[in-house]
Amino acid sequence: MCGIVGYIGKQEAQEILLEGLKKLEYRGYDSAGIAVLEQGELVVSKTVGKLANLEAVLEQNPIKGTIGIGHTRWATHGRPSDENSHPHQDCKGKLAVVHNGIIENYMQLKEWLQSEGHSFVSETDTEVIPHLLEHFYTGDLEETVQNVITKLEGSFAFVVIAKDAPQKLIAARKDSPLVVGLGEGEYFIASDIPAILKYTRKAYILNDGELAILTPEAVRVTDSIGKAIEKEVFEVNWDAVAAEKDGYEHFMLKEIYEQPRALRETMSARLSNDNKKVVLEEVKLTAADVAKIKKIYIVACGTAFHAGMVGKYVIEKIAKIPVEVDIASEFRYRDPLLDDEDLVIVVSQSGETADTLAALREAKNKGARVIAVTNVVGSSVAREADDVLYTWAGPEIAVASTKAYTTQLIGMYLIGIYLAQLKEVITEEKAQEIITAMRQLPSKAETVLGNIEKIKELIQPYSKVEDVFFLGRGIDYAVALEGSLKLKEISYIHAEAYAAGELKHGTLALIEEGILVVALATQMDIFDKMVSNIKEVKARDASVLGLTFRGNNELIKTVDEVIYIPKTHELLAPVLTVIPLQILSYYIAVARGCDVDKPRNLAKSVTVE
Ligand code: G6P
Repeated sequence: MCGIVGYIGKQEAQEILLEGLKKLEYRGYDSAGIAVLEQGELVVSKTVGKLANLEAVLEQNPIKGTIGIGHTRWATHGRPSDENSHPHQDCKGKLAVVHNGIIENYMQLKEWLQSEGHSFVSETDTEVIPHLLEHFYTGDLEETVQNVITKLEGSFAFVVIAKDAPQKLIAARKDSPLVVGLGEGEYFIASDIPAILKYTRKAYILNDGELAILTPEAVRVTDSIGKAIEKEVFEVNWDAVAAEKDGYEHFMLKEIYEQPRALRETMSARLSNDNKKVVLEEVKLTAADVAKIKKIYIVACGTAFHAGMVGKYVIEKIAKIPVEVDIASEFRYRDPLLDDEDLVIVVSQSGETADTLAALREAKNKGARVIAVTNVVGSSVAREADDVLYTWAGPEIAVASTKAYTTQLIGMYLIGIYLAQLKEVITEEKAQEIITAMRQLPSKAETVLGNIEKIKELIQPYSKVEDVFFLGRGIDYAVALEGSLKLKEISYIHAEAYAAGELKHGTLALIEEGILVVALATQMDIFDKMVSNIKEVKARDASVLGLTFRGNNELIKTVDEVIYIPKTHELLAPVLTVIPLQILSYYIAVARGCDVDKPRNLAKSVTVE
């Protein structure tokens, strides 16, 4: 995890590093620090807590200099503390390193370095890097970095600054992202593009095994043994403002409101004008490829996994291919029974989630074809998959995923119909019925958002609840899982999702007065069964908030309150039902004074296992 940034040029580095780190705080915010060369001396400033703490320290004691590195941390090895904050240094304080990733053999390296006389001040895995650099320093930093990399196991993206090589920053990566930004007489390195966007739009991505050597004159990229590599520069075409809050109190709320646009952008170019076909130019499966598919595995983490759960219902129903949904961290280690007759769909907003990436590699090793559904162009997942279906949600900054989820759902519908077309198991009329309904989703999402005040009012009495159960059957259950995760992650309220029919097998014992049950009931073939399950919790004095389509006058007879969503095709209901659940979580978290965009212990992009 963690976010790293580096600057070399003519401007004051401190300000540029802090600006960059602000944009990377989504990667972690347990501590932050910078190291800048000030009149030939390496000066480090770092402190536990969010970036604002570091800013306050630097306001009192600014560091002057035009070359520096910075870090924002998500703690893995060692609790959040000043000592465990990056940058980390060697014994003599002559060099400093910022790192993202995990050095898996750090214990052996640390013990060996200690036996060689090096003293450590932190509990981190990272600290072995500066000591290794110190130990093997030949007088040539580049050569030393090349050597040290061969001793590291695990994942890393790191940047080194050294007193003895004052006109240089050296960066290296393996399995953690790094992007190089090219300005006019100034150069940047960072974990992600938003960190450099204020200064330049020209960039390239560093690949695994590559080193970038930044000087005030140029950036040179080499392979791990120093052979020059030509990089293709690309122009970042996103709107920098899109990454800002735009007047909303929180990114999460802004991103909830962006869903109609995100949905529209993700689907519109992929639906034929007559609404009869899904056209996925980026996915190159042929009818023969699809005929061969025995099974589909959807593999993801967190919210993306919940999108995959919906994907299972959708693909099985529309394309008639069996689908298994797997949590990436489980899938990668369970030796899945895969071969070239299986299709794997990995879903990842960031495209950098370590477990999802490892699962993708596992699938490819076993010969399966992999489609990635991701939101980040050029991300690791996008680069390694056989085909990529981008969700066009735009940058998602809030840790709790909202617009990425709903656009991932669109990805599932698009893939479902696409496969069904190639397999010829969907009639034109059926496809047209679903696609026409899909086209209406953005405006229906706007209608749901138009009711935000009403929803806010409805949930007000529940801001102090301590236990919430989300119930649903079928595809509603998949959404219940996402609703429960949303509430937990931002409000710290205990929440669980249950397939409504399963409740009576144990969990019903927990239902009593004071508990809130959110019951999703959009699937009409199982509506009566759902109502029976709601009655079971009502009989145990829970308060029940129902969710169903406008026009359903039955649900209100059983529950305390109902949130109505516009009528749509039942398979598409998740796109609309999840929005009130996002709103519910958001306002409950705000009412409880939680840090909505940066919930405790979590991070946006989890690049460690
Ligand atoms: C983290 C985020 C979640 C996200 C999950 C998977 O846990 O906090 O919001 O769903 O990672 O991330 P990905 O980028 O792979 O979708």
